[in-house]
Amino acid sequence: MTRRSLVVGNWKMDLSHKAEVEIVRSLKELFKGVTLEQTDVVVCPSFPSLAAVADGLKKNQKIAVGAQTVYWEEHGPVTGMVSVSQISPFVDWCLVGHSEQRAITGETDEQVAARAGLLVRHGITPVVCLGENAEEREADQSVDKVTKQMKVLIGALTRAAIAKIVIAYEPIWAISANNPGELPEGDEVAGMAVLIRKVAAGRFGSEAAEKLRVIYGGSVNEGNVDQYIEEPGIDGVLPGGASLQPRQFMEIVKKVEAAA
Ligand code: PGA
Repeated sequence: MTRRSLVVGNWKMDLSHKAEVEIVRSLKELFKGVTLEQTDVVVCPSFPSLAAVADGLKKNQKIAVGAQTVYWEEHGPVTGMVSVSQISPFVDWCLVGHSEQRAITGETDEQVAARAGLLVRHGITPVVCLGENAEEREADQSVDKVTKQMKVLIGALTRAAIAKIVIAYEPIWAISANNPGELPEGDEVAGMAVLIRKVAAGRFGSEAAEKLRVIYGGSVNEGNVDQYIEEPGIDGVLPGGASLQPRQFMEIVKKVEAAA
């Protein structure tokens, strides 16, 4: 089966509202010259900019909008959080379980799974981030960690949901890395993609697991993207810092489309 490729730009909290709106203008101009047949492209701005970015990209068929997280309950007395009905007019995608969110809010694997299930029920594609930290890698626990995160997630989802979610393998030690030596090799990430689909297959069978899209995130840029997307089983990338530079983001997208 062929899975569509995917590039998700995570803008984090790096830009002002004004800069987020300006980036949209540049992206629209730059992407005029890009033909996409196999690749979905998503940008994830801050909550306050979702409406403006969605409006700016409305007529653009190439770039969709995603949120950076969502609360796991539909509504209620939850000061400071954002619900699915508050993001749904603007987004078709949403990151969940990003390691920065997990670290700040103490989000558990069960809460990540609840968010993913809620998003699927609302027709929004969750991009579920998981991966080990530096100490776990050092202690040779990467496989155990990812297996556990996947089991909790898959345990909370239906078979049909598997084709509607994306897993982003983001080893925490590789996020915002300062030199290429700190990044995983392509075959290491491909091995994790095999593991991720194996856990999904354990519950729903290999046919369902083959529909699961798996992407890589952690210091992706136009210079290193090839080593990941050339591996079978890796369907795309999730750049953070590199997605803040429209031209670099476009080059990453072009490479992913070319490899599809
Ligand atoms: P980075 O961020 O590309 O800046 O490492 C990726 C992420 O945290 O999603």
